[in-house]
Parts: sequence; structure tokens; C-alpha cells
Amino acid sequence: MPLRIAVLPGDGIGAEVTTQAVKVIATIADCFRHEIVMREYPVGGVALKTHGTPLPEETLSACQASDAVLFGAVGSPEHDDNPPPMKPEAALVQLRLGLGTFANLRPAVMHPALIDCSPLRPECIQGADILIVRELTGGLYTSDPRGIDATPRGRRGINTMAYDEAEIERIARIAFQFARQRRKKLSSVDKANMLEVSQLWREVVTRVSADYPEVEVEHLLVDNCAMQLIRRPRDFDVILTENIFGDILSEEVAAVLGSIGLLPSASIGEGVSLYEPVHGSAPDIRGKNLANPIGAIGSVALMFRHSFHLHREADHIESAIWRVLDRGYRTPDLARDGAWVSTEEMGDLICREIRRAVEERPC
Ligand code: IPM
Ligand code: MG
Repeated sequence: MPLRIAVLPGDGIGAEVTTQAVKVIATIADCFRHEIVMREYPVGGVALKTHGTPLPEETLSACQASDAVLFGAVGSPEHDDNPPPMKPEAALVQLRLGLGTFANLRPAVMHPALIDCSPLRPECIQGADILIVRELTGGLYTSDPRGIDATPRGRRGINTMAYDEAEIERIARIAFQFARQRRKKLSSVDKANMLEVSQLWREVVTRVSADYPEVEVEHLLVDNCAMQLIRRPRDFDVILTENIFGDILSEEVAAVLGSIGLLPSASIGEGVSLYEPVHGSAPDIRGKNLANPIGAIGSVALMFRHSFHLHREADHIESAIWRVLDRGYRTPDLARDGAWVSTEEMGDLICREIRRAVEERPC
């Protein structure tokens, strides 16, 4: 049976980085003799133009019927004034809900060759290796009530941060399972000094932790966590947190590591998983061949590991990324001395490196 991947390039630099990720998938398929069928579907601003909706029915059903989804980015300034359900970003949240991908894994590793890209001192950041486990289908993004109401005092905007015990428990179990395979430390992040929803979060995480006695747990308030990530990033192993705190903290972690262009992500849950770089659509550099495709290519590695259980293939992709960086190649977001390679060149370098390594050690 061929592996079927639904490819959703989306807006801005989404298309450029996805093209490079697709090239890497094709290279792996060729080197390891896998039959992989990839098909593209419209999403985000692109779909708003062609289908009048950010997530056409055909795109969602194709994703649900695939073995994995590769996603680029959504967001485009021309739709800034649309109401929330008609913004390109709504497609991503609807897709996450439609696939039931409630757990977002965002691994963030400090590559030694990129140490000078971090704004932190090398002794502070070297060796940092963090896995953010972000709840992805609940909280402020999707809870009711929401909207903008007319009141006698003028309009009132409302969103709600709500979590069921069951929603907290299932994401906590995922985070504990990953912590168990790593350095066995879990930092659960909440705002329990102010929010009832966080009190419940803390209580459920504490209860679940009894099933994972080998994992050391700390509870951090989100404001304190934001500070500790800058002061002592190396102390973090797995960070478990809810949707919007995870959204915000993952950009902080990206900045600490040097560039958001590097970070991959996997959204897993009830069925088909979705893989996407952490960065957005970056409309300012779209179409210029300047974007860093490493986040998208790293997401492909996560796809081979988590969806296809092809660990050797995933390892090959990740080591090729590391070796290309070791040899000094940089996209503009990482370049310090003015020399840089384009999006396409970075993709080609990584593909070439995969082929070279496979030829050197044929299976
Ligand atoms: C992310 C993005 C999305 C989010 C947007 C595009 C809806 O910022 O994946 O981090 O907020 O989840
Ligand atoms: Mg974000």
C-alpha cells in the first residue's frame, strides 16, 4: 500500500518551504524504495480566493483520508479585516479539530553550530533540548462563549478558556510518556494563581503524575516560565501547557535557539497527524526564496517517525539537516557574516546530503 500524504502549502512562504519538504520526501522515497503518493489541496487565504472558505470540505476530507498531512502556513494581510471564521488562520484551527490532533509536539534543540545565532550567552544555551507539548484543540481558541456582543456601554469582546478534566488528562499522559523516554523531567505551565481553569489543570496533572513516578514534575506559572526559559533554558526537558500559553512560549523558545525557521512540529491525537513548521506565513519575504525550509523539513522527519514508524528514514533527514548546518550553510535568518543560501539551495543541500549518506551506508 502506498503512503498517502495530503500536502497543504497555504499562504506566504508556506508554498516555498513545502516545496523543499516535498523534495525531501521524494528523496527518501527514492532512496528507501517507498511508494509515497502526495497530493496538494488548497487552504487558508489561497482557498478563500478559490473556494470562498479557508478550509474547503474537499481539503478536510482528503486530509482525513490520508496517512499524514504536511502543512505549510496560513495568514495573509489582505484578510486581516475578515471576521475570525473567515480568516486564513481559522482553517488551521478547524483542521486541527477535524483531525482531532489535540497534542502539538514542538521539539527545540540547540544545534552547536548555531550557538552564535542565539541572543543568549553560549554557556547559558548550549545543550538546550526542550520538547513543548502544547494542548491544541481546547482553551481560548475553541471554547464558548465567544464573540463580540453589543452592550449599552458599547461592544464587548469575549473568549473563554475552558478545559474538561478529560482533555487535561489526555494531553498530560502524552507529555508524561515523552518525558519518560527523555530526561524524565516535566514542567507543567499554568496560571493557577489567577485562573480556575489552571487550578483544575494543576490538580489533574498532579493526579496523572502518580502513574509516572519516574518523572520529576514541577508546576510553573506561565509568567515565571517565560522568565526561566531565558535564564536557565537548559533545565527544561518537557514543557506541558495549554493552547495559548504553548503558542506564546514556543515562539520564545524559537527566539532563544536563534530562529523560528528551524522549529518543526507534529500534531498528533485521535487519527491522522498533521506536520507543520512552527513559523507562520511571513508575507514580507514571500516568493523571494529567502525562507528557511528547515522547520518544514524537520517536520517531515517527525512524520516519518510518528506516522510511518520509519525511524531510520527520520534519522537520515535529521542528520542531513545537522550536517549541512555543520558545514556552515545558512539561510538569511541564520546568516551572520552576510553569506547565505536560498530556500531552494538549502533544500537541495539537504537532499544531496541524504543521498550521500544512504549511498555510503546502504541498507
Ligand atoms: C501556531 C500558529 C497558529 C496558532 C495560528 C496560525 C492559528 O501561531 O501554530 O503556532 O496560534 O496555533
Ligand atoms: Mg504560533
